[in-house]
Amino acid sequence: MLEKFERYPLTFGPTPIEELRRLSAHLGDKVELYAKREDCNSGLAFGGNKLRKLEYIIPDAIASNADTLVSIGGVQSNHTRQVAAVAAKIGMKCRLIQEAWVPHEDAVYDRVGNIMLSRIMGADVRLVDDGFDIGIRRSWEQALKDVEAEGGRPYAIPAGASVHKLGGLGYVGFAEEVRAQERELGFAFDYVVVCTVTGSTHAGMVVGFAKDGRQRKVIGIDASATPKQTKAQVLDIARKTAKLVELGQEVDDDDVVLIEDYAYPRYGVPSEETKEAIRLAARLEGMITDPVYEGKSMQGMIDLVKKGFFPRGSKVLFAHLGGAPALNGYAYAFRNG
Ligand SMILES: Cc1ncc(COP(=O)(O)O)c(C=O)c1O
Repeated sequence: MLEKFERYPLTFGPTPIEELRRLSAHLGDKVELYAKREDCNSGLAFGGNKLRKLEYIIPDAIASNADTLVSIGGVQSNHTRQVAAVAAKIGMKCRLIQEAWVPHEDAVYDRVGNIMLSRIMGADVRLVDDGFDIGIRRSWEQALKDVEAEGGRPYAIPAGASVHKLGGLGYVGFAEEVRAQERELGFAFDYVVVCTVTGSTHAGMVVGFAKDGRQRKVIGIDASATPKQTKAQVLDIARKTAKLVELGQEVDDDDVVLIEDYAYPRYGVPSEETKEAIRLAARLEGMITDPVYEGKSMQGMIDLVKKGFFPRGSKVLFAHLGGAPALNGYAYAFRNG
């Protein structure tokens, strides 16, 4: 579906699929759990889902003759860390707006983890006070103007690389990659579980899996705590991406399955249940998930298994999208393990 699009390689290649045997057993062997390790997809600053998206955006940035990638996220944004890494790798400058998306307990929250890595990679990091919002932000538009006023040539990458005309393509590619891996494995997955916030990861999967009618088997776990806005954004990106790749079918409202039950108490703040899910995956599988994103989708997947949401014997693929560097900003939450 992606043959006509240029791709700038930023990842190692197809990501491994790993069976989560001990976690499946712990949950009573009702289903078989697997993880697709997008968190291990690249040597660029610890990798993650944004690199798969950026592979289809960077050719456009280079063609535009830009010299500065300009992006936005929260203080502990994984996305902005990956944009900083790509800018370094391709020899561009990087301007990052880091908004105050999360009320935090750790005194070093704005100095460790993702933001520290972005600073080390030479990004020009600007902290602003605005709160959480996945939409287009005034502070980011201002940063684009500022870079231009200073004589630079900015290239605009919105939060999560999501509301960008090419932002959905990477995860269309994910679905194609899973299909190829399924042929090798000799079985197909019944469900894919994905953490959803700015939306283009989920949207790309909806389009990619629509090709073989599995789009409603992509189970989005909302981590935004603004699920209405997130679902609308997933739908919008999925529809635009479907046109772009000439899917040949409409994306219906019901094609986006978004479960709202695990984002509490709010974006970026882990509940006790999220922390338990993080500990469980770490202690049974040595797999590290984070308090903002993957810990919430892990919590969701575990709870859905317990509730019998997945029919007995289902093969469930957890898309592990990265995010572990943010854990450094949550030392207080895990002070006793
Ligand atoms: C680790 C991690 N998981 C999940 C997501 C959600 O992806 P998306 O923003 O494409 O919905 C993000 C980014 O927002 C992320 O960094």
